[in-house]
Amino acid sequence: MNKQPIGIFDSGMGGLTVAHAVSKLLPNEQFIYFGDSAHLPYGDKSAATIQAYSIKICDILLEKGCKVILIACNSASAAAYELIKAYVGSRAHVLNVIDPIIDFVTERFDKKRVGLIGTKQTVGSGVYDYQLKAKSPGIQVGALATPLLVPMIEEGFHKNEISEAIIEEYLKHKELSGIQALILGCTHYPLIKHQVEKFYNGNAEVIDSSEIVALALKNLLDSHSLLSENRERENEFLVSDITPSFEAATELFFGTKVPLQKHKLWE
Ligand code: DGL
Repeated sequence: MNKQPIGIFDSGMGGLTVAHAVSKLLPNEQFIYFGDSAHLPYGDKSAATIQAYSIKICDILLEKGCKVILIACNSASAAAYELIKAYVGSRAHVLNVIDPIIDFVTERFDKKRVGLIGTKQTVGSGVYDYQLKAKSPGIQVGALATPLLVPMIEEGFHKNEISEAIIEEYLKHKELSGIQALILGCTHYPLIKHQVEKFYNGNAEVIDSSEIVALALKNLLDSHSLLSENRERENEFLVSDITPSFEAATELFFGTKVPLQKHKLWE
């Protein structure tokens, strides 16, 4: 079982930020990444649609013998985690990108005001708000959907004046006033972390989930004695559609270009 791969999936390439953190922290693990590039973005879709795609992806990852399925997409974690967990049952462990952040934030920011930015699906689901308050009743949460940020980052606009102006416009919103921490609730946002930090100038901690999630994965593997001691196979990167821009995006999100293999969601 230890040698079996870890399945990581996202709506597209953004989840590679999580895959990258996993490959750094757990170099002995083989992972199989699935980016549903034929159906992105998930952030504007209904929960039912995201659930249907997610179940198909889980079938593929289970067929490949994954010991863990890591939902590396906030929108899918918000819309489909409970369903996936029930569907996968005892066939694999399931981890999402929201729970580790809830633990991290509630340990540090009890009775404080925290902010969340994410897609319309993630923010509209109310999952962060509900879970933060369930674990830490005194916490106050301000949440704002920031839908322009994903296309902006994908177009490579994440280190210039235009992106700075858009980020500032969102972060000035009254919903996010007076916060002591901001959760970057989307796989794409680690790429704008520095600009967000610049806006807060040390007055709020900016929480990027990739490393926190990789650590939660390590703890999960460790607690079930599932850690691999060496990696015998190369990591795989499957996508439901390939275009030159998806290939270029792998470098943006993973740090190096990776070879993509096309794997349809439906035959
Ligand atoms: N991966 C998605 C998320 O983390 C962002 C991109 C999308 O909308 O599909 O919410």
